[in-house]
Amino acid sequence: MCGIVGYIGKREKREFLLDGLKELEYRGYDSAGIAVLHQSEINYFKASGKLDNLTEKTKDFRSLGFGIGIAHTRWATHGKPTEINAHPHWGEFSFVIHNGIIENYMEIKKELQGEGVSFLSQTDSEVIVHLFEKYIKQNFTAQVAFEKTINSLKGAYAILLISKIAPESIFFAKNAVPLIVGRNAKDELFFGSSDAPLIGFADEVIYLEDGSYGWANEKEINLYKNSQKMQPNFKLLNSSKIYAQKDGFRFFMEKEIYEQSIVTSETLMGRIKDDKVFFEELSEYDFNDIEEIKICACGTSYHAALASSYLFERIAKIRCSVEIASEFRYKEPLLDKKTLFLIISQSGETADTLQALKMAKKAGLKTLAVCNVDNSSIVRISDVTILTRAGIEKGVASTKAFATQVLVLWLLSLHVARSKGKLSEDLCKTEIKALRGVPTVLKVNEELHEKLHRLSKRYLHGHGFFFIGRDIFFPLALEGALKLKEISYLHAEGYPAGEMKHGPIALADSTLFTVALMPQTLLYDKIKSNVEELSARDATILAISPKEFALADDFIKTQPYEHPMSEFFEMMVITQLLALEISVRLGNDVDMPRNLAKSVTVE
Ligand code: AGP
Repeated sequence: MCGIVGYIGKREKREFLLDGLKELEYRGYDSAGIAVLHQSEINYFKASGKLDNLTEKTKDFRSLGFGIGIAHTRWATHGKPTEINAHPHWGEFSFVIHNGIIENYMEIKKELQGEGVSFLSQTDSEVIVHLFEKYIKQNFTAQVAFEKTINSLKGAYAILLISKIAPESIFFAKNAVPLIVGRNAKDELFFGSSDAPLIGFADEVIYLEDGSYGWANEKEINLYKNSQKMQPNFKLLNSSKIYAQKDGFRFFMEKEIYEQSIVTSETLMGRIKDDKVFFEELSEYDFNDIEEIKICACGTSYHAALASSYLFERIAKIRCSVEIASEFRYKEPLLDKKTLFLIISQSGETADTLQALKMAKKAGLKTLAVCNVDNSSIVRISDVTILTRAGIEKGVASTKAFATQVLVLWLLSLHVARSKGKLSEDLCKTEIKALRGVPTVLKVNEELHEKLHRLSKRYLHGHGFFFIGRDIFFPLALEGALKLKEISYLHAEGYPAGEMKHGPIALADSTLFTVALMPQTLLYDKIKSNVEELSARDATILAISPKEFALADDFIKTQPYEHPMSEFFEMMVITQLLALEISVRLGNDVDMPRNLAKSVTVE
């Protein structure tokens, strides 16, 4: 979850490095630092808290002319979020920044301390620079010293190291967390934890593979993997910086809610041909020997998985189970090679999901990822990947990624149904019609948004929220509750509507807010009676339904769609906007909520 930026070249380095870190702020952090090596002189600065503190500390520093620089935003994993624990960490003549977790750092630290090395920080990362300098003092070249250092490390790392003994080079290494190298026609080299800081500077990039390392200077990139020299494989960096801006919205999250209509049309692009679902990625993929689908994910991605499990069983007639990745990892699961292991992840870097994937691969299961970030760790490890095409999602609270995940999974349920001969022509027509309608359903109605803005003032207190729904609206209720929790910090629970009478209804009183998802296409009478039970006990009801509901204290009227998934997507937007507007009224940081990070790369 840390952010890494690096630069080799002649431009003013402070500005590039700080701007690069700003592009990575969405990943969440609690301290930051930079180090610049210019004419054999290293200047470094660190600050805890927001980036503005580092900007202030470096305000008189400039570095023009050839030089190298590294910069880091830290999300604490070992050691408190203090300035001393901020990166870069240094030895006597070298500086290092690191993202990930060095699992064997205590052994290395103890050995180095036994040899008289003193440590300043509580971090695992600091062992890297002392180990490097230990090998330098044993008269190894900087390259060999770096290689020996990397070979000593166990765990996850993206590393940039600079040293006075090699003032023109940045040493880099990558394992299990992302690191990208970019270049342009002006002989400038860039490093980043993601594309974002490189957009507008690099023309092409390398997404480094696990186990790769090397050193780069103005003239060349020396790339190795398992001591073998590798040919750098550059790809065009085609993201547009525009997309990463807020373009007129108050928050990235708001922009991303409004973007759902356009990105879902991109998600569908090329995947419905002649009224049939088509996945180019799956053209070689045989589902016939698959008897079950097991889906594994975290957070919002888990909710998408849960919603899709109803579709896989109902449409594809295939057994489908869903696992929370952090539970799955340690439950010693029974895995069968006839099970397709489906991994859902926006970032493709979530540690728990990544480890679950590795378990499934080790057990010999076919693996398929539904992911939003190409070349991410999960994408690179999975047998096959279907990209959701949601574009950069910078709001920590996921919205368009969720929408595109559900859409891809719905498409996939139809693809599996067809491949197993379970899809009737009538059902196919009905589903394709509803699929094609999703981008329209997701167009935000500005009057509705304004209504939710006005309504939100009533929901700023109370002793909590229940979001309730049945069938696919139960996972949507879970997701609506998570959205609200994440950005308003108010307590909210998603619950199966039918379960309320088995305990939670004891909480019902006038200060308990219940958001009821009441579609007309699925179990309406059942959900209606559940809501009436709550209303009879004076719970405050916000009903979301195409059908008028007199007992509601507040009512949002939705479109009378004929397909449950159309109702699902419309109600999804309503719960997203409700959470956004409540959070705005509470004055919270909608895009970077407290305690959260966009990509949870540690367990
Ligand atoms: C979503 O709003 C949350 N930020 C979080 O639950 C997220 O969905 C979860 O951490 C999984 O992330 P992933 O999809 O990148 O794997």
